[in-house]
Amino acid sequence: MKKGLSQEEQKAREEQHQEALLKENIDPKVKRKTHDELLEEAQKALLKSLEKVKRTHYPAYHLAAPAGWMNDPNGVIFYKGYYHVFYQHTPSSALETGIKCWGHARSPDLIHWEHLPLALVPSEEYDRDGCFSGCAVVDNKGQLVILYTGHRVEEEDHIREVQCLAVSDDEEGIHFQKRGVVISSPPEEGVEHFRDPRVWKEEDLWHMIVGYRIDDNQSKGIGKTALYTSSDLYSWQFHSILAQEDPKLPLGKRAYMWECPDFFALDTQHVLLYSPQGLDPSGYSYRNLYENGYLLGQWQNQSFSPQTAFQEIDLGHDFYAAQHIEDPKGRQLLIAWFDMWEKKRESTQDGWAGMMSLIREMHIQDNRIHMSPPKELEKLRLKEIQLDISALTSQEKTLALAEEKLQEIYIEVDLSQTTAQRWGLKLHVEQPEPKVTHLWIDSTLKRIFLSRNQEPNSPQESEDCRSCPLPETSLLSLRLFLDRPSCEVFVGDGHSQGIFVLSSRIFPHEKAKTHVLWSEKGTLIVKKCLQWNLKDTFEFTPF
Ligand code: FRU
Repeated sequence: MKKGLSQEEQKAREEQHQEALLKENIDPKVKRKTHDELLEEAQKALLKSLEKVKRTHYPAYHLAAPAGWMNDPNGVIFYKGYYHVFYQHTPSSALETGIKCWGHARSPDLIHWEHLPLALVPSEEYDRDGCFSGCAVVDNKGQLVILYTGHRVEEEDHIREVQCLAVSDDEEGIHFQKRGVVISSPPEEGVEHFRDPRVWKEEDLWHMIVGYRIDDNQSKGIGKTALYTSSDLYSWQFHSILAQEDPKLPLGKRAYMWECPDFFALDTQHVLLYSPQGLDPSGYSYRNLYENGYLLGQWQNQSFSPQTAFQEIDLGHDFYAAQHIEDPKGRQLLIAWFDMWEKKRESTQDGWAGMMSLIREMHIQDNRIHMSPPKELEKLRLKEIQLDISALTSQEKTLALAEEKLQEIYIEVDLSQTTAQRWGLKLHVEQPEPKVTHLWIDSTLKRIFLSRNQEPNSPQESEDCRSCPLPETSLLSLRLFLDRPSCEVFVGDGHSQGIFVLSSRIFPHEKAKTHVLWSEKGTLIVKKCLQWNLKDTFEFTPF
């Protein structure tokens, strides 16, 4: 089996590259800046951005870029004792239009993040307009290898996307050398959007999936995932289409593009996770600009047979481009971009934008993925506050004040004894209440709603409401993680803590410190109500 490129192969590749450059009228003798030089410039740009960052709303225990823009998690992997998360990053700007590099951080324990030097910046013709999303694997020699999409914008806004490879030349997987394009053309004629490789190894064979869209005159946009195989990570053969949208469905019912596909075994099934674009809202579903969700099925003889329809993985406002990490404890964990494209962001003026979700642990139950907070998150807890609330009859009760906006709240409710028609939590209350986040349960509709600016009245009509079904259980648990700009609600039943999860970015009033538990038209029976202030684990040492 081949172990990487031989010198001749390397030379042949180089010649091909030179030829391609000449064809594009770029003189290869004109000295271009090297990747290292451009990395250094990007690093300097980051230090400059850092001078201007305001951390008033900056996350305390979620991973975010130290300054500038962040989107998708990339290359998530457990390597030599650390959880590595690379990410889409523009160090010089907090605007979403910036050119994408790869930022990098690692954590030994899922709660403390060490920020590392940038891993990739655009430096070659094939990735000149962005080093787009991708993955990391450990190659046969034990080195960390990145596979990513080289993105180029050409004339008349056409784009060209190719799959590229870079190898770490150090022990720790911090510095990377680009090795060029490994898949230069898409699997079907006329495809422009072809990106986000995710690679894994089965026995001796590497597998890669890539998201793409096919556009032709009759059928504008069909999202697909292509499967490739390789024996050495460098030379790839197209194998098949792993899965795709049903072309017979009209646009809106079918997605025109599948971004960031991921594929892995979970319990007894296989998960194809992806981020479809173009699904219209339908009832309580698909209310975000783009969705993130999965198909469950069986993987046999290199073929995937889905056994479920597409389901959203998180039901909040901001969860996209999620990727899994398998860790040495055998857990399948998940992390996502805790944000969404094309929206107004209050933090942009503070010099940063985008963050990652909390890492969750996944399991399958009743053909759905449940996501629970991993045990490690308990280490974030400072003092525990027990609240003496057992029953609320059409009244309001203020929870303990939070000095900072960093809190975990755990509430268990006996649904079999609760008669309140509606009850819930107002988060971050400040009088008057312009920015209160409402979480409430409607016993008649049998749903849990989360809204960032809407009173709990007409959830069906509210654009801003996100919701999940109320689990059929007598003991409902709600576990909330509040960071300065975010709220993650894990809905459980005493056995599973994450039957449903709602993750949403919020921007509470600076002075707001109070949460209020309320009930309406009946009694709410509270079994447990606990609160913890949480630690701020953010640290940045300039590299
Ligand atoms: C998903 C995505 C990817 C792409 C990256 C660019 O959010 O659009 O498809 O690689 O972001 O930053």
